[in-house]
Amino acid sequence: MSKIVLGVSGSISAYRACDLARDLMRAGHTVRVCLTDSAAKFVTPVLFETLTGNACLTDTFVEPTRGRMAHIDWAREADLILIAPATANTLNKIAQGIGDDMLTTLVLAAQVPLLIAPAMNPAMYTHPETQASIHKLQSQGAFFIEPTEGDVASGETGQGKLAPNADIIAITESVLSRRLTLNGKTILITSGPTQEPIDSVRFLTNRSSGKMGLAMARAAQLMGAKVILITGPTSLPDPANATTIHVRTAEQMLAAAQEQAPKANWIIGLAAVSDYRPANPSPTKIRRSEADLTLTLTPNPDIIATLAKENPTKRVIAFAAEPTQDTEFATEKMHRKGVSAIALNDISNSQIGFQSDENELTLILANGETHQSGRKSKLGCALWLLDQLSENP
Ligand code: PMT
Repeated sequence: MSKIVLGVSGSISAYRACDLARDLMRAGHTVRVCLTDSAAKFVTPVLFETLTGNACLTDTFVEPTRGRMAHIDWAREADLILIAPATANTLNKIAQGIGDDMLTTLVLAAQVPLLIAPAMNPAMYTHPETQASIHKLQSQGAFFIEPTEGDVASGETGQGKLAPNADIIAITESVLSRRLTLNGKTILITSGPTQEPIDSVRFLTNRSSGKMGLAMARAAQLMGAKVILITGPTSLPDPANATTIHVRTAEQMLAAAQEQAPKANWIIGLAAVSDYRPANPSPTKIRRSEADLTLTLTPNPDIIATLAKENPTKRVIAFAAEPTQDTEFATEKMHRKGVSAIALNDISNSQIGFQSDENELTLILANGETHQSGRKSKLGCALWLLDQLSENP
């Protein structure tokens, strides 16, 4: 079992770190807790020392073992550092390489996976500096467990609540134990929406945010795979250490996927591809008039079906966005597209699927078996799906 340093910073949700420490210990891990000064105003070192049976670090100059530098020892001995909750202040300091307290100093000294679960006021979370820090740390390989939306302590509603402990534990386990399950594999992922031009400034598109595709890319990397992400337009950062190809239309996505497919072992079609495109897009902006305007649509190529047909030896997996949990339509889609498995995404539930931070999938295999993910963060769902696919070759 693993040695985990649990960093706790000064958020109202610091109290949840107590359960988190216990749950990690129940899972068999050794937990050492490092509190920032602000965290120690919400929860005490004594509490964590009693819960974990280990000394708790707070002050940089108060060493539990005389003559030893705890921030170096702990950084060397840990298998993983988990910061939950991570405040804007701690997160922004880590991104800037600042080490002005025990926790940030310890993080600077460590070379192990870093998992960060932010919790803060929604305005602080969406602040450009905080977002820039998150993107920077992601590009350096840190993993984030995104906060969920809901009521926060300040009385506002928005994204800022510490992710559920169950998700934090699941992702911690994945980072610790499943990193290399897909070692040596290259996974090609299509993601996001497509934009099909109507004229020079207007287009047809859909509500896909690309979050599920990005989560799949991160999950595949966590499990040791190389990732090629072909994405339609989104506002998300590119995953660190992956090949990311930006496209706009379905035809561009198909061309990019056909070019990259020879390098891939698995192909996962997550993109919400527009089934139709305007047949004759105008090269200039269409002027307003009082007359009706008729738009003729022509079918787009079916990207995943084309890839499955052209790559019969590769594992090709599709997603099915369906307004039902009934597997009948998704199963028919799997056979029609010639893919070896399909993940049914019930988009009638607004809490999951398009744009949300959580998802729930039913994996349908070619032999008719079905497996349910239960509701999880998108990263949790992606890890679950890749586990299922690995276990059912
Ligand atoms: O991006 P998010 O906001 O995180 O939302 C995630 C998601 C809901 C978009 C994602 O989980 C999902 O369900 N993706 C599939 C969306 C979709 O277009 O489903 P579909 O049932 O219409 O298509 C079935 C499969 O065929 C999909 O793998 C799709 O990528 C593929 N397809 C569809 C049409 C087409 N012309 N080419 C394709 O390759």
